[in-house]
Amino acid sequence: MNELKVDFNRPVVVGREFEYMKQALENGHISGDGPFTKKCHAFLEQELGLLKALLTTSCTHALEMSAILLDIQPGDEVIIPDFTFVSTVNAFVLRGAKPVFVDIRPDTLNLDESKLEAALTPQTKAILPVHYAGIGCEMDAIMEIAGRHGIAVVEDNAHGLLGKYKGKFLGTFGSMASQSFHETKNFTSGEGGALLINDPSLVERAEIIREKGTNRSRFFRGQVDKYTWVDIGSSYLPSDILAAFLFAQFEQREKIQLHRKQVWEMYQAGLKEWANRCEVQLPHIPNHCEQSYHMFYMLLPDLELRQKLIAYLRERGVYSVFHYLPLHLSDMGRSFGGEVGDCPVTERVSDQLVRLPFHNALTSAEQELVIDLLQEFPF
Ligand SMILES: Cc1ncc(COP(=O)(O)O)c(C=O)c1O
Repeated sequence: MNELKVDFNRPVVVGREFEYMKQALENGHISGDGPFTKKCHAFLEQELGLLKALLTTSCTHALEMSAILLDIQPGDEVIIPDFTFVSTVNAFVLRGAKPVFVDIRPDTLNLDESKLEAALTPQTKAILPVHYAGIGCEMDAIMEIAGRHGIAVVEDNAHGLLGKYKGKFLGTFGSMASQSFHETKNFTSGEGGALLINDPSLVERAEIIREKGTNRSRFFRGQVDKYTWVDIGSSYLPSDILAAFLFAQFEQREKIQLHRKQVWEMYQAGLKEWANRCEVQLPHIPNHCEQSYHMFYMLLPDLELRQKLIAYLRERGVYSVFHYLPLHLSDMGRSFGGEVGDCPVTERVSDQLVRLPFHNALTSAEQELVIDLLQEFPF
C-alpha cells in the first residue's frame, strides 16, 4: 500500500497573502471596498480589458446580482446548460424564472449552441453559457443568436478566469459574467467571487444592488451628498481581508497558471495512450480556445467503471471526484417538468465523468502515482 495521500484539492499560500491580510488590518479598513478590493478590481479590469469588476462574496452571489440587474420576473425563462452547478440556475429561479435546460456538446461538455434556437420562446430573457473546465463555449454562435433575439447573455465563468475564446478573454462576451474564488479555483480567497460587467448601462445599478440597495458608492465618490435606500439589493461585498488574500494570489498569476499548465499537460501526456486503449475520453480543447487550466477530467466508458475507479483510487489514498448531476432530473428540475431522456448527453456524461486531483501545490510525484495507478486499473 502506498503511503502517499493525494488530495483532490489543497488550498495553499502562493505569495504575500498573510502580509497583505495584516496590512488590511493596519489600514483600519477590513469591511468591503477597502484598498485591497480596489486593487482586485483594477487587476481584473486591466488584465481582461474589462469595463467594470465588482468583487462579491461568491460566484453564486454574482449570479444573483445579474438576475436582479436583468429585472428577471416570475414567468420569464432562462436558458441553462443542463450540466452545471446549481447556482447557475438557482440565482434565476430565486427571482421567479422558469429554467429551460439545454443539453451540452459531447466534445467540450459546453452548452450545445445548435440546440439553442429551438429552446427560445418570447419569454426567454437570458442565456447562461457555462465555460466548463475553463474551455470556451461557442461564443460566436451564442452571441449571434442572442443578439438576433434581443436576449441577454450572462457567462458563468466560475472555471474560466484567463481562458480565451478566439483570442478574447472569457467573461468579456456577455453583458455580464460571474467568477468564483472558491477554494477549488485557480485563484482563491476561500469563498469569493466577482461580477464582471461589460454593459455600461448596468454599472451604476450593480453598485447599488451590491450595497444593500443604497447609493453608498456614489456618496463615497462625492457624487451625492447623502446616501439612502434607492433599489432592492443585498450585502454582496467581501471583507477587505479576503480581498487582500485574493490580491496576493492575483499577483502570482504567472506562477499559478504555469504550474497548472504543467499539471494539466503531465496528465494529458501520461494518460493519452492509456485512454485510447481503454476507451476513456480526455478533455477536448478546440484550436480556437485557450483553456484556463482549471481541471482535468476524464469520461469513463460507463457508470459502473467510473464508480469502481473512484473507489479504487480512494483505497490507494488518491481522491478523485465526479461532478454535476443532470439538473433536469434533480427534485427541483423535475418540478419544472424535467424527464429522463430530455438531455441525453448530460445524462450520459454525468455518469461517466471523474475529476483527477488538481491544485496549486500538486507535485509531479503525486501525479506520477495517480497516472501509475490509472495504468494498473483493472478494466
Ligand atoms: C459553473 C459554476 N457556477 C457557479 C459556481 C458557484 O461558485 P461559488 O461557490 O463561488 O458560489 C460553481 C461552483 O464551483 C460552478 O462550478
